[in-house]
Amino acid sequence: MILSKRISQLQPSPTVALNNKAKELAASGETVFNFAVGEPDFTTHPDIVQVAVDALQAGRTKYGPAGGSPAFKKAVVEKLKRDNNLEFTTDEIVVGVGAKEILFHLFLALLNEGDEVLVPAPYWVSYTAQIIAAGGKPVVIPMGDDHDAARLTPEMLEEYATEKTKAVVLTSPNNPAGYIIKKDELTALGQYMENKDWWIISDEIYEYMSYTAEHHSIAALVPGLKDKYLLVNGMSKGFAMTGWRVGYLAAPKPVSKMVKTLQTQSSTCLPPFVEEAATEAIKRGKSLMGDKIKVLEERKNIAAELINSWEDVSMIPPEGAFYVFIDIRKALEASNDYQATESLKFSSFLLENYHVAMVPGEAFGVPGFLRLSYAVANEKLIEGLNRLRQALDKIK
Ligand SMILES: Cc1ncc(COP(=O)(O)O)c(C=O)c1O
Repeated sequence: MILSKRISQLQPSPTVALNNKAKELAASGETVFNFAVGEPDFTTHPDIVQVAVDALQAGRTKYGPAGGSPAFKKAVVEKLKRDNNLEFTTDEIVVGVGAKEILFHLFLALLNEGDEVLVPAPYWVSYTAQIIAAGGKPVVIPMGDDHDAARLTPEMLEEYATEKTKAVVLTSPNNPAGYIIKKDELTALGQYMENKDWWIISDEIYEYMSYTAEHHSIAALVPGLKDKYLLVNGMSKGFAMTGWRVGYLAAPKPVSKMVKTLQTQSSTCLPPFVEEAATEAIKRGKSLMGDKIKVLEERKNIAAELINSWEDVSMIPPEGAFYVFIDIRKALEASNDYQATESLKFSSFLLENYHVAMVPGEAFGVPGFLRLSYAVANEKLIEGLNRLRQALDKIK
């Protein structure tokens, strides 16, 4: 029997696959340096855990309202005003099972067959798969070669836009590259898009992890974008709540209504005890994780200093999230066994022989790079990077 042609084009998430391989090695008794994970190594704040425990014990174990509880939506509206200088009403907010589900439903709600979505590389692995699953066409904007230059410009959008362009995805702070689109760059992009009939999907899930540059929401800088601005955020990264699966959307009513309808026909709602805990976390905001964010910043500095001391690799300056995107093309090119773009082959070699897991750039549309997640303890970070150095020396 023939299965769906559309879904047959998809590959399982490569980050999940690599993680599984690293876990298998660890289960067989090996010490593995796993830099492939996309989650903080901290546990959720105990106060937040307590809210969920209390709600469970009080018997709040039934279905919750589709699209989100009034308390959660109110907390989101207040957060957006407080942190992002954005005005939304509660009926423009929709909660979902992680930002991942929100994005999936969003693409389903926005796209008709053949509609194009501009996706700047390097991109988070699921955007392209979800766009294809929704019947759209991801149009990848290649990354510029100058690691210090603006990551995305109006000219780059202009070059890849067609009359079929329906939406653009912006991810800042960026996964996998750790860059932040600066205020002036974001303003220029916003002013350019003000006259375009495109949805702007702004994935701001790493907003609390902004170290050397400030995070801004594009619609706060260019208010004229508000009727096409679709903000996606969630609790996974900034609150160390990956396993709780809470994401949300803030969008004009026709879009939020459709995403909510999709939820009523799929996951229905969030577990109410999870939503209660998330409401408390969102109210407490960035201060809840305060010192933890500093710890991540320290690790970023450790990683960046080591990598910067190697002459055959470079990196995109890491400014946010918890990733360093390492350009190993020069090192690969110097080897007889590798081509400059063969980071997938090198990442297998690195895992099998040095027990270091890093996601190859192929997963993010930019071969020749490795993504290092520095959400691991300092000693592990240093030892893992030393092993990476040994592996690079080995292939010389
Ligand atoms: C850029 C980006 N967006 C969205 C997500 C999805 O987050 P979640 O579904 O855990 O809320 C991730 C997770 O890795 C991410 O890196």
